[in-house]
Order: sequence, then C-alpha cells, then structure tokens
Amino acid sequence: MTDLAEPGSGAARSILITGCSSGIGASAARLLRGRNWRVFPTARKPEDVAELRAQGFEAFLLDYENEATIPAALGEILERSGGRLDALFNNGAYAVPCALEDLPTEALRQLFEANFFGWHTLTRQVVPVMRTQGAGRIVQCSSILGFIAVKYRGAYTASKFALEAYSDTLRHELHGTGIHVALIEPGPIDTAFTANAMANFHRWIGREGLEASVHRAAYERRLKRMENGEPGRFKLPPEAVVEQLIHALESPRPKPRYRTTVPTKVMTVLKRLLSTRALDRVLINAADKEE
Ligand SMILES: NC(=O)c1ccc[n+]([C@@H]2O[C@H](COP(=O)([O-])OP(=O)(O)OC[C@H]3O[C@@H](n4cnc5c(N)ncnc54)[C@H](OP(=O)(O)O)[C@@H]3O)[C@@H](O)[C@H]2O)c1
Repeated sequence: MTDLAEPGSGAARSILITGCSSGIGASAARLLRGRNWRVFPTARKPEDVAELRAQGFEAFLLDYENEATIPAALGEILERSGGRLDALFNNGAYAVPCALEDLPTEALRQLFEANFFGWHTLTRQVVPVMRTQGAGRIVQCSSILGFIAVKYRGAYTASKFALEAYSDTLRHELHGTGIHVALIEPGPIDTAFTANAMANFHRWIGREGLEASVHRAAYERRLKRMENGEPGRFKLPPEAVVEQLIHALESPRPKPRYRTTVPTKVMTVLKRLLSTRALDRVLINAADKEE
C-alpha cells in the first residue's frame, strides 16, 4: 500500500480545495503551496478563478450548485496530476441566517446543494482515485454548528449536522483503505462568511420579508451587529483552521475531529455534560446576548 509523499521528499503532494475565493479556502491554498503541496484551488465565479490563476495557481471553476462543474474541474486536475490526487478539502459553503419559519424551502434546497449534496458528488468521484492509490486524505470543513444548534442558523446548522453524520459514516466505510477522513469544527473565524451570510439574508428574506416577520426586531438588531463587523472575543484568523488542516493532511495519524477556537472546545464539553433542557438554556441565552 502506498502512502502520501513525505514533506520535503521532492514529490509535491496534490490537493483539491473548494471555495478559495476568500477566507479559509484562500488561506489554505496559499499556506499549503508554501509547504510544497501542489494546490488545485477552485472557486465558483470565473473572476475568482482568474484571480487565483493570476496568483500562479492551477485554478478551476467548481460550483457545488452546478453539478456539471464538478467532474469538469476534477477531470482537468487529474489530467494535470497524472491521475493522482492525494487530498481533498471540501470547504465552500454559506449560511442563510433567519428563523426557520421565514426560510423559503427553495433557499434551504439550494443551501444543501452548496453545503452538502455538492460535497457528496465531488467526494464520490474522488474516492475511487484514492482507492486506486491506496492512500488519500479527505478533510471536511464542518463547524461548531455541526454539533450544536442555535437560533436563526437553522439552514446552515442542518447542513453541517448532516455533514458530520456523513463524514463519520465515510470514515467507517473507508477504514483500513489508507484513506483518512477528518472533520474540522471551527468556531468564529474572521472571513467573508458574515458578509456573505448577510447578502443571503437580503437575497432570500429582504426588507419585505423582514417587515412581515414576527422576528423583525431580532433581525434588525442582528443586521446592525453584522454590519458593524460582528465583533467576537474568540474570533480567530483563518490560519488557525489551516494549522489543523495541515495536521489532518500531513500527520501519520490524523484525528477524526479537529476543534478550532475556545467556543468549540467549551461547547464540546457542555454538550457531553448537560441535559438537552440545560443546554437549550445556555444556547438560547447566548443567542439572545448576541443581539
Ligand atoms: N467563518 C466562520 O466563522 C466559520 C465557522 C465555522 C465553519 N466555517 C466553515 O468554513 C468554510 C469556509 O468558510 P469561510 O469562513 O472561509 O467563509 P467565506 O470567506 O465566505 O468563504 C466561503 C467560500 O465558499 C464558497 N462557496 C459558496 N458557495 C459555494 C458553492 N456553491 N460552490 C463552491 N463554493 C462555494 C464561497 O465562494 P463565493 O465567494 O463565490 O461566495 C467562498 O469561496 C465553510 O465550510 C464554513 O461553513 C466558517
């Protein structure tokens, strides 16, 4: 059974990363290139692909919501790498922040295409490549909201909970094949995520939806907070996630789960210790304080 090329051994290991227009994906592409990885970053907008190419990357268009772009990007990458792919970092995702009762079903469906079904389509196509190699790393960018639920994040939380179960199952099914599956669970990270979430609120709820909603006052407070850049005592830069990604990719013994930020670690413990009723109180209070 072959294994991943060792760091510094000369043979660059290859990785496909999604969602590299900003944030964690952009940071991962840059930092991994600096560690002698052959990085194939992808983005869903042609202008972001062009920008990545201008930075010297072998970048391709991949939009999880546009299924045809998935085999197209993977095919081009495999052609360049001689059919080998050492790692996949599923990362591109977004939130539509609003109460579930205000969430249009179409918004939820589209979010699941981006945050879940597209990840499955890509992963299914990568697994046979890694099976042939007898080695590979699949790293899934989950979230603290992959194991705790909070108000007004229902769509996103549902997609990340689904991803957690999916990734645990995949890890079991690939056990012993040389393919490792890891989940990264970041808490608040300083990226374009909040700005993108706000844009999605305006897209799906809008002024009209806000004014008609029983949650109007809470939305107004939250929007103001988001517009002001959503300060967070525990917010970390994207490099904190990449540090754990590097462990998941390069360690001979990658962990099944990486918990990034203090809130993620605290919530892991509270979820184990508290009853559902007690945890609800903590999470409702925390969400109310955010407003
Ligand atoms: N920031 C946080 O606090 C935080 C916390 C926990 C987990 N995470 C997770 O971290 C990952 C990266 O997010 P980020 O914080 O770096 O936010 P970000 O700066 O908004 O980056 C998200 C990336 O995902 C891309 N994306 C959105 N929809 C996509 C689609 N349909 N197909 C392919 N790519 C798509 C975005 O592309 P566009 O530029 O075209 O929109 C962007 O490149 C996500 O999985 C997110 O759930 C973030």
